[in-house]
Amino acid sequence: MKNLKERILELKKEKNAVILAHYYQEADIQDIADYVGDSLGLSQEAMKVDADIILFAGVHFMAETAKILNPTKKVILPDLKAGCSLAESCPPDLFKKFIDEHPDHIVITYVNCSAEIKALSDIVCTSSNALKIVESIPKETPIIFAPDKNLGKYIISKTGRDMQLWDGSCVVHEAFSLDKLIEVHKQYPDATIIAHPESETHILQTASYIGSTAGMIDYVKTNPNNQFIVATEAGILHKMQQEVPHKTLIPAPAKEDNTCACSECGYMKMNTLQKVYDCLLTESPEIDVPENIRKKALVPIERMLELSK
Ligand code: 13P
Ligand code: SF4
Repeated sequence: MKNLKERILELKKEKNAVILAHYYQEADIQDIADYVGDSLGLSQEAMKVDADIILFAGVHFMAETAKILNPTKKVILPDLKAGCSLAESCPPDLFKKFIDEHPDHIVITYVNCSAEIKALSDIVCTSSNALKIVESIPKETPIIFAPDKNLGKYIISKTGRDMQLWDGSCVVHEAFSLDKLIEVHKQYPDATIIAHPESETHILQTASYIGSTAGMIDYVKTNPNNQFIVATEAGILHKMQQEVPHKTLIPAPAKEDNTCACSECGYMKMNTLQKVYDCLLTESPEIDVPENIRKKALVPIERMLELSK
């Protein structure tokens, strides 16, 4: 009797499908994926896919971005409810009003938002290129940055730019506890703290490196230290540990009242191996982006990809 992973791999071949997975997916899903990456890498990979089906093991905005970039492919997501607190914080009608209240501003949106929000934007960014994208805008031009206020504050601290921030945040990265992080650092005084820029300012101030999930993995690979405290979603530890099997990786602790002691994203974890199998078998749920929205959303994503070459 074949196990679930073997059956998925067989079905993937039969259906001419590829599986793209984010680093926050459960380890078993990452292991059967054709590509595992951060948001930028996943977009670049999705654009190149030649197979008939893209199974996106990630959250809704990521699958939507894949569909926007490669519309002739069938894009399927194991669970349509796999959303994101950042995307949910930014409804298109309120965002349109915000833009109207700030005329003459360039609109930069973090990729963690819906296709409708991207369609209202001038340029998209991810955590790996946000600084570069902001710096590409002429200095005197004011900027609207949405929906992540924590990433926005971090960019302001680095660039001193005039940015109007949308009041959104990632529930996972806001769950880190500074007091508990300091306690853990006392236990591992030689450990280097690394953090994702969706984290709050007081967490970022403790970090020696701040970057995207792919950037964090590269950093632990190239940094000579052997101990790291990792402030991002715990799913990253799977790939990271495979890359540095002899190094010690300690997940940054979450606040007492968090549902998980080690900061897991409930949206990302809605995808399971069984749902991946069912999704491939039935080729559903499928991601659909209305063509008028898709065309408008494609422009700011392509601008970002051009600047990220
Ligand atoms: P990156 O993998 O692009 O750093 O993004 C992290 C994230 O929160 C995705 O939802
Ligand atoms: Fe959204 Fe945060 Fe989950 Fe990423 S980790 S999908 S930003 S809620």
